[in-house]
Amino acid sequence: MKISVALLARFNDQITLEFTSSMAYRQLAIEMNAQDLPGMAQWLRRQADEEVVHANKFIDHVLDRGSHPVIGTVPAPDVPVGSSAGQVFAAALHHEEVVSESIRNLVRAADAEGDIDSRPLLNWFVEEQIEEEATVKEILARIKLVGDDGPGLLRLDSELASRPGGTTENTDR
Ligand code: FEO
Repeated sequence: MKISVALLARFNDQITLEFTSSMAYRQLAIEMNAQDLPGMAQWLRRQADEEVVHANKFIDHVLDRGSHPVIGTVPAPDVPVGSSAGQVFAAALHHEEVVSESIRNLVRAADAEGDIDSRPLLNWFVEEQIEEEATVKEILARIKLVGDDGPGLLRLDSELASRPGGTTENTDR
């Protein structure tokens, strides 16, 4: 089933938002590198890579259905220089909440059109967003618990460095 023109526009917007997410995470990683928190920077950089995988999943879906995906304008990341670890992960959480709502709107639009073919992909993203929000929330809560305790922050930083490389998804399909 071919994607409607209206739904294709929404898929293109989502593709652009995933690349926007990648740039945002990359900038957040830079902020943590600049403050000598390499573990947090590593975690955020891995997430930037995963967002590209997300964009590619949408691109592949649109191509597989015989349509032509187009990447839109990716805005510069809105991350204040010198943001603390707490501010960085709060920004990440806010960003994930925006993405989650965008995915829900995509689900609503696809359902309204009876676009059953996109359902498995969109269900995967609904699950993925639940997981991503929960993970970022947990990191943020732990940063708040640590507060001004320098050694505590360094411990958390080294824990986050252990996030494995690669992605959760196979980019080769
Ligand atoms: Fe692709 Fe973190 O949302």
